[in-house]
Amino acid sequence: MQEKIIILDFGSQTTQLIGRRVRELSTYCEIIPYNKFPYDDPDVIGVILSGSPFSVYDEKAFKTELDRLRSHYPVLGICYGAQLMAYEAGGAVEPAPSREYGRAILSKVDNNDPLLCDIEVGSQVWMSHGDTITRLPDTFSIIASTKEVAIAAYRINGEKTWGVQFHPEVFHSTCGTQLLKNFVVGICGSSQDWSAESFIDSTVASLRQQLGDDKVVLGLSGGVDSSVAAVLLNRAIGKNLTCIFVDHGMLRKDEFKNVLHDYECLGLNVIGVDASERFFSELAGVTDPERKRKIIGKGFIDVFDEEAHKIKDVKWLAQGTIYPDCIESLSITGTVIKSHHNVGGLPEKMNLKLCEPLRLLFKDEVRAVGRSLGMPDHLIKRHPFPGPGLAVRILGDITPEKVSILQEADHIFIQGLRDWGLYDQVWQAGVILLPVQSVGVMGDERTYERAVALRAVTSTDAMTADWAHLPYEFLAKVSNDIINQVRGVNRVCYDISSKPPSTIEWE
Ligand code: XMP
Repeated sequence: MQEKIIILDFGSQTTQLIGRRVRELSTYCEIIPYNKFPYDDPDVIGVILSGSPFSVYDEKAFKTELDRLRSHYPVLGICYGAQLMAYEAGGAVEPAPSREYGRAILSKVDNNDPLLCDIEVGSQVWMSHGDTITRLPDTFSIIASTKEVAIAAYRINGEKTWGVQFHPEVFHSTCGTQLLKNFVVGICGSSQDWSAESFIDSTVASLRQQLGDDKVVLGLSGGVDSSVAAVLLNRAIGKNLTCIFVDHGMLRKDEFKNVLHDYECLGLNVIGVDASERFFSELAGVTDPERKRKIIGKGFIDVFDEEAHKIKDVKWLAQGTIYPDCIESLSITGTVIKSHHNVGGLPEKMNLKLCEPLRLLFKDEVRAVGRSLGMPDHLIKRHPFPGPGLAVRILGDITPEKVSILQEADHIFIQGLRDWGLYDQVWQAGVILLPVQSVGVMGDERTYERAVALRAVTSTDAMTADWAHLPYEFLAKVSNDIINQVRGVNRVCYDISSKPPSTIEWE
């Protein structure tokens, strides 16, 4: 039995964060669309209802069968979840007179209530809603208030059902972790046995059972997810796993050689394929970012497929898909900004069964599993790197010469971050080669050469990001080194845009 908390997703941006917070309490949880509750799963120990971009009284508002949850499981409604339960039971939810956003301080707290045990008056909570509950049904009692929001939290009498109008999952709710712990551990009775080690033990056992003596191929990218998936599978089935690492020519300087070496040291059975020439010729003259992505995605699938066919009797394709890739998204607008799914067509094309051993894990859990498997820190803490690599960091068309200029500049920046102890403080960094030339002077000579932009961001999930406030001395040194050492570059800029409204990559 794997006891679990179900988080019903009503479309809030912070739903995944709730999931991560619950996992941080060493408790397994799943995020499920609001209308797909697994009523026949005997392992559910509690339910959390998320927030939503809708108002409960909207015609299109997401609804769920509350009477099948309340009294059957402990339930905690967060924001919209709390408003929905109040509204459906006959309470009133109305637009707040002033929108309730940001910090607020709990001014009244009922510490006898198990949800609020050890939470003090004066604790900071984070509000983010345009609506507010103005009247509770008779069977509901207020258990916490702020100065502005009388019904900050309530309990339904005689039931294990609670609602909070603030967001305990966000960092700025200082009592949030305690509140979630009170619910998950105190009320739902989680035994807190979800850990990297327990995950490895149970996954290795189930992979052995699932795969038996079958052969498996896996595409390595150098990134954390595929590398951890490979090491986990290697532990389960050893030489029956063959990994394929394709060099599409758009990797960082020496990346192919170094990462291949790392993989070999980890005892993986890896085939490295240098297909860079093929990619260069297919990409020649292409400037549109989405076309670049499509060409690289398709080229990768073709090369991988060719290599995989050289191995006899392969039955499975393994991928490093992680939980955020799997959560069925309730995107309200459905706008595609960039297509990030590089190898989406691979399983269909290869006609193999799919094995995704990390599909239940968040990124920080993947790292913890990697660490537990004994992988070196520099592999585990690597910055994310886009599948199409430097191709989306060269604005305009791609040539081998531009790639090598960019590789040199990027190497100076990344090595600099490492040398100055800044690498682990940024989420992701890289250099962008701009399609402009500018005038400079070197010695007595006028130059007319390329400009590059440095990009470094802080983030927790790449959904939002801020530019990293790197020290001026560091930026000065990197700029100097790039201009002095990289032929063809005479100007360096630092990108100070946040996401949104910009994105992390330039293409
Ligand atoms: P953006 O630029 O959308 O990037 O803010 C968010 C994160 O996604 C990465 N990224 C990609 N990853 N294939 C990938 O595998 C892609 O085509 C791609 N485009 C962007 C980006 O590096 C950042 O981590």
